Formats: sequence, structure tokens, C-alpha cells
Amino acid sequence: ELGDFDHYMLKEIYEQPRALAATFNATAGHEIADSAFGEGAADIFDRVEAVQIVACGTSFHSGMVARYWLEELAGIPCEVEVASEFRYRKRVQHPGTLLLTISQSGETADTLAALRDAGADDFVGSLVIANVDNSSLVRESDLVFLTRAGTEIGVASTKAFTTQLVALLMFTVALGRRNGMAAEKQQELVNALQKLPDFVQQTLELDADIKQLSEAFIPKHHSLFLGRGIHYPVAMEGALKLKEISYIHAEAYPAGELKHGPLALVDDDMPVVAVAPGDELLEKLKSNLEEVRSRGGELFVFADRQAGFISEPRIKVLPMPHCPEVAKPIVYTVALQLLSYHVAVQKGTDVDKPRNLAKSVTVE
Ligand code: M6R
Repeated sequence: ELGDFDHYMLKEIYEQPRALAATFNATAGHEIADSAFGEGAADIFDRVEAVQIVACGTSFHSGMVARYWLEELAGIPCEVEVASEFRYRKRVQHPGTLLLTISQSGETADTLAALRDAGADDFVGSLVIANVDNSSLVRESDLVFLTRAGTEIGVASTKAFTTQLVALLMFTVALGRRNGMAAEKQQELVNALQKLPDFVQQTLELDADIKQLSEAFIPKHHSLFLGRGIHYPVAMEGALKLKEISYIHAEAYPAGELKHGPLALVDDDMPVVAVAPGDELLEKLKSNLEEVRSRGGELFVFADRQAGFISEPRIKVLPMPHCPEVAKPIVYTVALQLLSYHVAVQKGTDVDKPRNLAKSVTVE
């Protein structure tokens, strides 16, 4: 089953171009038909004025990315919350809200409980984005979009996350066209989705470079992941992957928060990873880094290769494929998956079955 791969995680990382294409092609033609989200989707979508996303772990991170898309591209207010908090909090519900749960397994206890408890509330309906057909969340939601990632065996979620993002971008288009999204914009997003597998393939070709970069992390005990805007949740996902499989403490911060505390932590035991496709974040980081360079701080920057950044002492730049904005959260995540994978393998951890974790968290 593993073929040429040493671990399921690596195999699943490499399956992403195919999984992304399959998920996108799941809709009839490339029109992103409402019916791709299940029977009755059109009627429910017509009534959506806001979206409440509820999920756990990696699936929560895909929801965090989607919030930027729904608000920026579709003009739909969106809240995102981890299920274990959402379900126990007294909430004030905006009218016209769709409840969107996201789950690879479709069986995560807290997410399922959130859906069940929310039944009594005044949602316009529920949609689940899941990878496992006939799972509890799929059975109990009004609308369903199944990601076509195929079975994910590695405990660390990889292809499930990136296919969720494809589904979420398609969902953004479906709501956006009801909310004045221009036809050209819709077409631009569809085009980006069509080209996505190529950009991911190009990222996989950076594997050897990423492996080389990963060596610096092996003796470390801590790390910071920084991102700005939509790349903040990408940084969160990168940090979760690293801590989950390499057992290196990894924390994600929105880049602007660095100087509000975490900068004090930076020393030669604290590599800083920056998800910085454009120049804005990098320029700001560079000035921050000046302050810590003398203390041994080292920065690893994932940046668009057309941004023209080159490595300099204590700043290693990994040039990433040039791609449309909406493709970047997916493309940069793939690079961070490879980074974690190589760190973990070199540390000798059980990559596919990290200690203390289960693939599907069906108890609270
Ligand atoms: O099956 P789900 O997507 O609902 O699972 C949610 C989390 O348990 C899961 O994403 C977890 O965080 C992963 N192990 C992360 O890689």
C-alpha cells in the first residue's frame, strides 16, 4: 500500500495534486453547481446571511482560512470557533446563519455534539464538509460536500486539509454569486482551482530543498510560526503539524503580535518560520529580526519566488512557486507539511502514529 513511500503521511502529501483535482471535479462541470452541496442547497444558500464555522484541530484551521475568503470575496460575515468551545458557550445567534461543520472523519465528538446541540437554534440549515461518506456528521447535516481526498491514514491530517480548502473556496463562490461577486471574479477563482494541482506539484518538487532546511530544526525545542492575514491560519496549521509529529514546541502568531511578547523568546533555540508570500511581512520581520539576530535568532521564510528575496546570514528564504492569491494557503501549507515530515523523520518519531493521539477523536 505504501509503494515507494516510507510513511503514509508522505504518501498522502504526494497524493494532493490528484486529491485536489478530484475534489474540484466533484461538481458538475466547472460551474460550481449548488447541487454539489446536496439536494436543497440552492434554497438554503439563498437564505444565508452569515456563516458559523465549527470544527477541531486542522479542520478548524481550514475554517479560519475560509473566513478570509467568505468575508473578502463573498461579503458574507463569518465566525469560526473550535467545537469544544462553541458547544458550551451561551451564544447570540445572528439570524440567517448557516452552520458549517468541517471534519475529515465526520465523527469528531465535539463537532458532532455542536451540530446536535445547535439543532434547537435558529440556523437556516447545516452544511458539513467531510471526507468520509456516511459518517455521523454526513448523516445528520442538511447539506453535504464530500472532499475526495481518499482514505487518510496518517494521524497528521494533510490531504484532508487542502481538499477542505478547495471545498471552502467553491462554497465561497456559491455564496458569492448570490452576493454580487462579479462573473470575472468567479471565473478567476475557478481558473485558480483548476491550476492548483500544478502549483502543488511544483511545491512537491521542492522536497529536497525543504528537507535540507528541516535539518536546522532537529536540535531545537521550540519554534515560532508567523503569518499575516490569511496566512496566519496557514502558520497555525504549520505549527500544529510540527508539534504533532516532531514533538517540537511550535506556536503560531499573527506576525504583528511578535513585538507584543513572543519576541522576548527568540534566541538560538527558537527558529522563526515566516509564511510570507509577499514582501510586506518580510520587510517588517527583517526589522524585528535585526533585534534578535545578535541573540542567534534565525528566520526561515517561505516566499514567492518572484518576490526576489535571497537568503542572507540568519535568513533562509525558500522560493515558492508563483501562484494566484487564493492558491497560496494551500500551496504554502504543502511546503510546511514537508518541513514537519522531514523534521519528524530525522528525529525518529512515529510519524504516522504520533504518541498520545488518535486519528479520530470520538470521545470528548
Ligand atoms: O476528523 P476531524 O477533521 O474532525 O478531526 C479534527 C482533528 O482531530 C484533527 O484535524 C487533528 O487536529 C489532526 N490530527 C491534525 O493533524
